[in-house]
Amino acid sequence: MIPPKTVRDILDAARIEEVVEDFVTLRKRGVNLIGLCPFHHEKTPSFNVNPARNIFKCFGCGKGGDAVTFLMELEGFTYPDALRWIARKYRIEVEEIQQSPEYIAEQQLAESLYIVNDFALQHFQDQLFETDEGKSVALSYFKKRGLREDTIRAFGLGYAPDQRDLLLQRAKTAGHNLELLKKNGLCSQDGTRDFFRGRVMFAIHNLSGKVAAFAGRTMSSDKTIPKYINSPETEIYVKNKTLYGAFQAKKAIRKQDECILVEGYMDVISLYQAGIENVVASSGTSLTEGQLQLIKRNTSNLKILYDGDPAGVKAALRGLDLALEQDLNVKIVLLPEGEDPDSYVQKIGSEAFEAYLSRESKDFILFKTALLLEETQGDPVRRAGLIKDIMGSIARIPDPIKRGTYLRECAALLEVSEQVLHEETNKLIVAALRKKADRDARQPGAASDSQAEMPPPDVPVPAWEPGIPVREKPVQRGDEFQERDLIRLLVQYGDQVLPEENVTVAELILADIEESLGDFDNPLYGRIARECHAHLVQQQPLSQAYFINHEQPEVRELAIDLLSSPWEYSPNWESKWNFPLQNQKMPDVNFDTDARKALSVFKIRKLNKLLDTNKARLKAAALQGDEKSERNLLQINMKIEQARNKIAKEAGIVLLPK
Ligand code: CTP
Ligand code: MN
Repeated sequence: MIPPKTVRDILDAARIEEVVEDFVTLRKRGVNLIGLCPFHHEKTPSFNVNPARNIFKCFGCGKGGDAVTFLMELEGFTYPDALRWIARKYRIEVEEIQQSPEYIAEQQLAESLYIVNDFALQHFQDQLFETDEGKSVALSYFKKRGLREDTIRAFGLGYAPDQRDLLLQRAKTAGHNLELLKKNGLCSQDGTRDFFRGRVMFAIHNLSGKVAAFAGRTMSSDKTIPKYINSPETEIYVKNKTLYGAFQAKKAIRKQDECILVEGYMDVISLYQAGIENVVASSGTSLTEGQLQLIKRNTSNLKILYDGDPAGVKAALRGLDLALEQDLNVKIVLLPEGEDPDSYVQKIGSEAFEAYLSRESKDFILFKTALLLEETQGDPVRRAGLIKDIMGSIARIPDPIKRGTYLRECAALLEVSEQVLHEETNKLIVAALRKKADRDARQPGAASDSQAEMPPPDVPVPAWEPGIPVREKPVQRGDEFQERDLIRLLVQYGDQVLPEENVTVAELILADIEESLGDFDNPLYGRIARECHAHLVQQQPLSQAYFINHEQPEVRELAIDLLSSPWEYSPNWESKWNFPLQNQKMPDVNFDTDARKALSVFKIRKLNKLLDTNKARLKAAALQGDEKSERNLLQINMKIEQARNKIAKEAGIVLLPK
């Protein structure tokens, strides 16, 4: 482990522009640097590097972060590995502190398992390329199946001859530990026989290209023996987090901003050889959450190729709701009867194949709707079930805008009113949120997989409230613009000291809205405000770095957004508040005035809301003839109006009549 002090040294030393320039050519534009985004394909540069803030942001694909995130995203590094990379660059000595004995043992075991697999890979490749049997049986088999030698090498293909213990003997001679071979599943548990015999071999790589496991395909046409056998799960091979081909495909997936998913090993290899490199395989099973997260880290677009009968495809579609939950855009392509991606690309060539994919790819939800619709023709009961089924899928989509689009299109397809579908999905969403809230309440602080890699914060932080996973979208409702301004001030200037009062911007804002902390319209902004408040109460500092390195990805993203984009004004600020709109960016020195103004606007809006509620009560009281309440409420009304007008006057805001 890297000691916290060294972590800080490394983070301090890392200059975003210097790190990025090792990968991307940058040129100056104003105070920023720009270049072609390495995360998506583009012709005109929209990738921005801001040396002053030490962050990057692509306005094309939305990726952003600091030097560490840059390396993690681009190179697939873990957090500690990204730090080590920076340390090497800046010649910072990393003296790793002592780990627990268990941790060290685990690392050493993993290392030794990789070493044994490397040895096995070398052995299988030797057998394939260097022996007469390998060349005549296995190499010719691969070539007959259309593979070139460079492809065969790139994917670590090999051959295990049909001999009792060839690998075992070799490994022993080379001094390898028998227990490790057993553990990796390379030999029988009694240590007398090789596991893979008479099979062509496929190396299964982890994301950084190390061999984690093997699959062996039989050379026999005997239907009674399994076509493929695989290594067992080990410390270095976790099946539900592995996608075959991901190591080779990683770069292309990012570049094309799309991941193609197929079923088989040969499908991946054939497509790759044909120049379609952004392809991975689930290896014959349905997609797991871990695999989806792996995809999601590289792209939001998933295209799944199916070869099979409609019944099989229908069954496969069930597993895909998980993909929607990850906010992936899922497309489906059905291949012609009797073809799999491997056979089809070899038959028609890569150009025709790509044309087929773009012609035949269908949106998952619409595809599913059409497919189910076809078979429930004229059966109203089954039709109702079908609508539920599809709404179940749509309800999983986190993005409300996308959901709305689907509802509209499905309403047309299903010939029901959009309103009905809206209500149906809303019910499902509320039910799911309740379930989630219950779950969170039962196990507070349970970290999901994706967070497991995140750096542990070095100060104890107040617990993050369990909440709804809300993605920030540019669409703003209600008071969200004002709320966003406050959060921007917190992120951007939270730690700046206001000379007059000798308090920080964060203290000024949070003390002032203490009683409104629960009333944010936007749940994410609200959670951030409350978290900052808890921080101040515990006298912990807030800085830009704190938000940029936040353990919650949505906070990190928001922070980067706020720090990268120019100061925004609500479109109706001017009309509502008679604010002269300034079209220049917010000057960094002006946080004092801006903080106060944003605060005033925020408070006025909250008070206006209070007035509305109060007025409704007043009306009810009047209707009931409850004069006492009426008088009371009128009093309150006046007080709120006075408070509001006072704030407006002090801030120089002109209140327009409603
Ligand atoms: N599979 C498996 N075990 C089996 C059969 C299949 O693990 N007994 C997995 C493999 O990952 C295989 C995938 O399911 O790649 C798809 O199976 P299939 O279509 O039968 O194999 P192909 O990949 O098409 O292999 P080939 O073209 O060599 O027949
Ligand atoms: Mn096949």
